[in-house]
Amino acid sequence: MRGRGGICVGLWGSEETDFTQRGAETQRTQSGERKRKEQDKERKKGKKKRMDKFLIRGGKALRGTVAISGAKNSALPVMAAALLTAEKVAVHNIPKVRDLVTMGKLLTFMDAKVSVTEMPASDYVIEAPTLRHAEAPYELVKTMRASILTLGPLMARLGVARVSLPGGCAIGARPVDLHLSALEKMGAEITMSHGYIEAKVPGNGAKGRRLKGAHVVFEKITVTGTENILMAATLADGETILENCAREPEVTDLVAMLRKMGAQIEGDGTATLRIRGVRELHGTEHRVIPDRIEAGTFLVAGAITGGDLTITHCEPEHQSAVIAKLQEAGACIETIDKTTLRVRGGKKLVAADMTTEEYPGFATDMQAQYMALATQAEGTSMITETIFENRFMHASEMIRMGANLSLDGRRAVVRGPAALSGSIVQASDLRASAGLVLAGLVASGETVIDRVYHIDRGYEGIVEKLRAVGADIERVHGSGSGVHASVPVPVT
Ligand code: EPU
Repeated sequence: MRGRGGICVGLWGSEETDFTQRGAETQRTQSGERKRKEQDKERKKGKKKRMDKFLIRGGKALRGTVAISGAKNSALPVMAAALLTAEKVAVHNIPKVRDLVTMGKLLTFMDAKVSVTEMPASDYVIEAPTLRHAEAPYELVKTMRASILTLGPLMARLGVARVSLPGGCAIGARPVDLHLSALEKMGAEITMSHGYIEAKVPGNGAKGRRLKGAHVVFEKITVTGTENILMAATLADGETILENCAREPEVTDLVAMLRKMGAQIEGDGTATLRIRGVRELHGTEHRVIPDRIEAGTFLVAGAITGGDLTITHCEPEHQSAVIAKLQEAGACIETIDKTTLRVRGGKKLVAADMTTEEYPGFATDMQAQYMALATQAEGTSMITETIFENRFMHASEMIRMGANLSLDGRRAVVRGPAALSGSIVQASDLRASAGLVLAGLVASGETVIDRVYHIDRGYEGIVEKLRAVGADIERVHGSGSGVHASVPVPVT
C-alpha cells in the first residue's frame, strides 16, 4: 500500500526521521531496492549501536528564563483525533520530542498525509481523506504506548481497527481493559489475536459500522481511556455518557479541539462527559496546551539548586498541586502573570509527604522529580505512589548517588538532606530520567545518565534548556548499553 505522507528527514543527534517508512518502500524502483535495503540495515545498525548519555557536573544554581514547550500528553491525542475527519487539521505547539514523531509515523502508516516544514517540528498538518490501513503495528506501538489512542478514532470513523497490544512497561502492567470494555458497550466486537486487538462494529456499509452511544462508568480513572472513548463517541450513533472520567488538562484540551471539529460535548473538566454523536467532523486548527510536567520539572530544578528561574509559556493553573507541595517544602514560587511562574530556592528545604493522585492532585509524572527534591530536604518525606504499581525504578539509582531512602510497597521513605555524589546511573523511563537529571544537578562531581533515549521521548531540548540557565550538562553520543549492577533498595 502506498503511503501518502512526505518524507521528513531531520536530526535528533545524528538520527534520521522518516514519516513514511512504510509508504516510501513501495515507491522504490526495483534496481535501487537492494541498495536501499542495505542502507536501511546500516542505518538501523547504527541506531542500535548509539546510546546517548548525559554528563552532568552538579552544584550550579540555575538562573534565568525557560520557555515551556507544548504538552506531549496533549499533542498525542490531538494528533490521533485528526483521524476522525477527512479534512485538514493543523496542530501547533507540538513538542519536538520523539513520541510525536512516532505518532506522525503511525498516522502516515494508516495512510494519512502528515506534513511538516522542518524536523523535528512544532507545527503539523494532518489530512486523512482516506484511511486504507486501520492498523497500529507492533513496531510502532512497542516504542510508544500512546499508539492505543488511535483505536477510538479508527473505530469511530471506519468501524474497524487492528491495534497491537501495548503490553507492560517499566512503570507497571498498564492494561487497556477499560478502553476495550467501553468500546464493547458501544457495540464493538473485540478479539485478541497474535498480540493484536482486533475490533469491529458488526454490520454492512457505513451505517452498519457505526458505534452506538452508551453509558460507560470507568471502574478506574484512566487518562488515555477517557480520551479514546471520548473520540470514539464523537461519531457514534446517539448519546454517550462517560462517568468517572479523567479530568486532566490534556483531556480538556482534547475536548476543546473536538468541539472545534464540530463534536457535541458537555462536561469538560468534570468527571462526567456527555457526547452527542454527529455524522461527520470537520477540519480545524488547534494549539496544544503547555506541558505542565515540563514546567513542574523546571520548578523543582529551580528549587533544588537554590536558583532563580522564570518559567514562561506555562499554565500556572495546571500547576496548583505541584506549587503547593513545593511551597510546603520551602521553595518560593510566585505567579508572575497568566503564563509565567518564578521559582526561587535558597531557603532550607524541609521534608513534606506527598501522595500521587489523579488531576487535580499531585501528578504521578512528577513523582520522580519530587523524590530528587526530597533527598535534599531536611527530615523524612513519605512519598506514596497510588497510580502505577512500579514507579520507583529511579530509587535504586538515587541510592547509588548517596540518597538515604527505602521502599515499602508503594511508599518511599526519604531521609534528608543527603550529600549526593556523581555516579553512573541508568534511566528506566521518561520521568525517572528527569528525576535523575535533577539529582545530578545537585550532586558533587560528575553524574553520567545512561539510556537517555527515554528522556528524548518527552522533554524537548532538555540539555539546551538547562544549559541556557547555567547547568553544566552535556549530551555524549555513546555506544553500548553501559549496563551496571543496580543497588538493592532497602525495604522497610
Ligand atoms: N488502568 C487499568 N485499565 C485500563 C487503563 C488503565 O487498569 O484500561 C490503570 C493503569 O494500569 C494505572 C491507572 O489505571 O494503574 C491509570 O492509568 P491511565 O490509563 O490513566 O494511564 P495512561 O492513560 O496509560 C497517561 C499518561 C501517562 C501518565 C498517566 C497517569 C499519556 C500518553 N500518558 O497514561 O504519562 O502517567 O496517564 O496520569 O497521556 C508520561 O508522560 O511519562 C506518562 C507515563
